[in-house]
Amino acid sequence: MANLMNSPAYEAARKKAEAMLATMTLTEKTGQLSQFGTSIYSDDEQTFDDHFAEGKVGSYLTIKGAARTNSIQRALMKATRLPIPALFADDVIHGYRTTFPTPLAQSCTWNPEMTRLCNEAAAKEAYRAGLKWTFSPMVDIARDPRWGRIMEGYGEDTYLCSRFSEAAVRGYQGDGETIGKDHVYACMKHYIAYGACIGGRDYNTADLSLQTLYDVYLPPFQAGIDAGAATVMSAFEDVNGVPATGNRYLLTDVLRDQLGFKGFVVSDAGAVTELVPHGFAEDIKEAVRLAFGAGCDMIMAGDPYNEYLPALIEEGRITMEQVDRSVLAVLTLKYLCGLMDEPLVDESGEDCFFSDAHMDIARRAGREAAVLLENNGILPLTPAAMAGKKIALVGPLAGEEGKGHLLGGWACLCDPAHTVSIEEGMRKAFGDTCDILTLRGCGVTCGNSEEEKAAEREQVRQASEAAADYDVIVAVVGEEAGMSGEANSRSDLTLTGCQGQLLEALIATGKPVVLLVSAGRPLILTPYKDRVAALMLIWQMGSEAGDAVADLLTGVVSPSGHLTTSQPVCTGQVPIYYNHANTGRPALGRWPFEAKYRDCQIAPLYPFGYGLSYTSFAYEDIRLSATEMPQDGEITVTLTVRNVGNHDGAAVVQLYIRDLVGSTVRPVKELKGFEKVFLQAGESRELTLSLPASSLAFHDPGMNLIVEPGKFKLWVGEDCTDERFAFDFEVI
Ligand code: GLC
Repeated sequence: MANLMNSPAYEAARKKAEAMLATMTLTEKTGQLSQFGTSIYSDDEQTFDDHFAEGKVGSYLTIKGAARTNSIQRALMKATRLPIPALFADDVIHGYRTTFPTPLAQSCTWNPEMTRLCNEAAAKEAYRAGLKWTFSPMVDIARDPRWGRIMEGYGEDTYLCSRFSEAAVRGYQGDGETIGKDHVYACMKHYIAYGACIGGRDYNTADLSLQTLYDVYLPPFQAGIDAGAATVMSAFEDVNGVPATGNRYLLTDVLRDQLGFKGFVVSDAGAVTELVPHGFAEDIKEAVRLAFGAGCDMIMAGDPYNEYLPALIEEGRITMEQVDRSVLAVLTLKYLCGLMDEPLVDESGEDCFFSDAHMDIARRAGREAAVLLENNGILPLTPAAMAGKKIALVGPLAGEEGKGHLLGGWACLCDPAHTVSIEEGMRKAFGDTCDILTLRGCGVTCGNSEEEKAAEREQVRQASEAAADYDVIVAVVGEEAGMSGEANSRSDLTLTGCQGQLLEALIATGKPVVLLVSAGRPLILTPYKDRVAALMLIWQMGSEAGDAVADLLTGVVSPSGHLTTSQPVCTGQVPIYYNHANTGRPALGRWPFEAKYRDCQIAPLYPFGYGLSYTSFAYEDIRLSATEMPQDGEITVTLTVRNVGNHDGAAVVQLYIRDLVGSTVRPVKELKGFEKVFLQAGESRELTLSLPASSLAFHDPGMNLIVEPGKFKLWVGEDCTDERFAFDFEVI
């Protein structure tokens, strides 16, 4: 597949890199494999100038702004013997200055093109700030919302995550076979199965079969590599007993030899030296040998490679060829992106930050990310319908105080002041057509002292008392930005602080409550599901959150988001995901001895793929091109989707299959295709979804990738439980 990494430009850059490599000292070589700078773990802003003369610095992370990167680059280029600039990187996960919805929110758009647009804009801002590389996209499959980093990925499904992975890479790097200005290298992370951490506890062990590793966790990386991803980041956790960062099988045999990855691997922050506490390396020198020997080309961050690789070469435990191969991979990318010719960035370029174009993308992405879960007809609250009425906007995330949290975690160099709050968006949308009262109601969290709790309860009482006089209550609760993301696993997914009490008090007023939930992950909403007039997940939408939410609430656009993670009934249900095995005793309620809980249903509160609209869609004239296909064949599914409501909207047509019998048990459902289509009221469109037999492949017990003949079910529907349109087909 032609892409940046197998292009003529790549080969030309590689030749230049080979010539440069031949002139380098060993110290200069290990320097290219060493990244410095701060990470989220410290505010240490050292630039290690004392390393420059010997050429010991190859890359920096989290240095902010064009002026600062240029200043460091000038000093480095002046002091080093060879003209090799540093590669500047940062965690541009969902925006650099302009903040876009979190990746999990973006995945709920079911519109990979929107993610490509978000990342393209993010890349432009990052590039203009002196960066050439971002530690994104995170393509970890996540089935456990206790894991805080579920907010950084694209949900629980392999097929959908793979589509977003390729779109994310193309957004950052561009589409072609070169990488020009205003684009940055992507870094797919965290290789691999970081999201499979037991207990949803960050950094914890992942222990899974090779079949699951290959069939569930690997494809999004393959998709990104096929799209030309230039780098990969090795993960922290131990995978089947071997830490990912010291795992030669995964980093070399699989990633390079099987998946064909040609770029370079950077460790996660500290993951090399953490091989010691893992009990996998006796000391840091051994950790360097194991990580570098496994295929971890660059260390994030600091001197261990500079310090120990020369000795390991001297002792014959690492070869110069290994070092040269890694240095070549790094240097090639430095030539390929033009850094070697233009080490400095034009500082006037930062005027693109928060541009109208970027804010418009953020607003559009936010509109498409929201997932409407309940609506008794109260939404949309059109200004016309609300004229003369009164809205009480209540909750810790509704007003000025909450807007920084609407940006979500990993928001890079975000600016809460440059964020539209829900209140601001609502006031702009309604103008003076109706009276809007904004009340905090309570905090997202609450202190532990009796005084603090009493004060929160009093605030709840006052807010609900005031809200009782209003016609409609819009409640905004959820998580603070810092409650998800790295090192933010939660053992309890219910609403924190007095938010639950606030909702109970607001519901008790008897006035209709429109519940908006802003969080980095799925939360437990079971107590409110049937008691509010409407329920919408607004996730953490970023800089334009308030405008996007107002557009949705007032009906400027209809919600079109669909879930990409199963929403649990209670925390005890997790990990929970739709594409599970059937087991020999599926919970059908036929007898007590079934795969179920005594105290909870096994179905989620809301299933994967679910999402409501202000309109409705009819699926008509659905037909398969065939009911049989050979193991190398393809079936197409054609249908007409019609907007049969009176509001413009977007349908997300989903194609699921089930392999009824396999040489390993197959999931009860698997997403194998989807298409989002915007239709005006009354409009219809014919769609064709392709189902190649190759998409049915899986690894058998002998780890052979096979497409097995046999009978299959196929559904076309609006979520993974929609079985209105079922078909049979066979692979022969
Ligand atoms: C963190 C994260 C990783 C990030 C890196 C640099 O520990 O695990 O995703 O890119 O450090 O900040």
